[in-house]
Amino acid sequence: MVKIAPSILSADFSRLGEEIKDVERGGADYIHVDVMDGHFVPNITIGPLLVEAIRPVTKLPLDVHLMIENPDQYIKAFANAGADYITVHVEACRHLHRTIQLIKSTGAKAGVVLNPATPVENLRHIIEDVDMVLLMSVNPGFGGQKFLTSVLPKIREVKKLADLYHPELEIEVDGGVNEETAKLVVEAGANVLVAGSAVFNNKDREAAIASLRP
Ligand code: DX5
Ligand code: ZN
Repeated sequence: MVKIAPSILSADFSRLGEEIKDVERGGADYIHVDVMDGHFVPNITIGPLLVEAIRPVTKLPLDVHLMIENPDQYIKAFANAGADYITVHVEACRHLHRTIQLIKSTGAKAGVVLNPATPVENLRHIIEDVDMVLLMSVNPGFGGQKFLTSVLPKIREVKKLADLYHPELEIEVDGGVNEETAKLVVEAGANVLVAGSAVFNNKDREAAIASLRP
């Protein structure tokens, strides 16, 4: 069963609550929240206050993607605000195990994220400790970018590792996912698809979400 996680980065922020309810009605499985700090990525977006504000609006799990330096400093704040999943970039973590344990100590599910140019080898010694691996199929920072096909062999590699060491692992892909690329990533082994523009740029959210499922 493939899960769809609409990224609110492409939603109308002036009516964010309504937008979230709309994708929940349309069949979304998670709400993907893109947190950017202007340092790790060249854009600034959302903080714990906004996560707290949207928490009562939906029953869906909040999948909080931290694109920030020093994630350890903010993990508790996002967990207290209501994050269900917290994912951190390996490129931003000096002591990855410690950061993953910190996320788990809050009760949230923990995930690691790889940028497009970061090899899967980085997951080998952490894969048994995480609930989710997120593979970026664009360089993080903005919605609406073009899907990088170089993620496809990486998905296959992660799937192989998961089959060996962690069959329950959620394998999520983020960036440029649309009707065509969704097929490719699912075929390669992904089971959670993030989609921002493909969902929110379509007025019919139910149809948009359905079109991403295999
Ligand atoms: C990119 C973000 C993505 C983004 C995806 O930095 O992490 O979640 O919102 O947007 P689309 O689906 O439009 O590529
Ligand atoms: Zn994201």
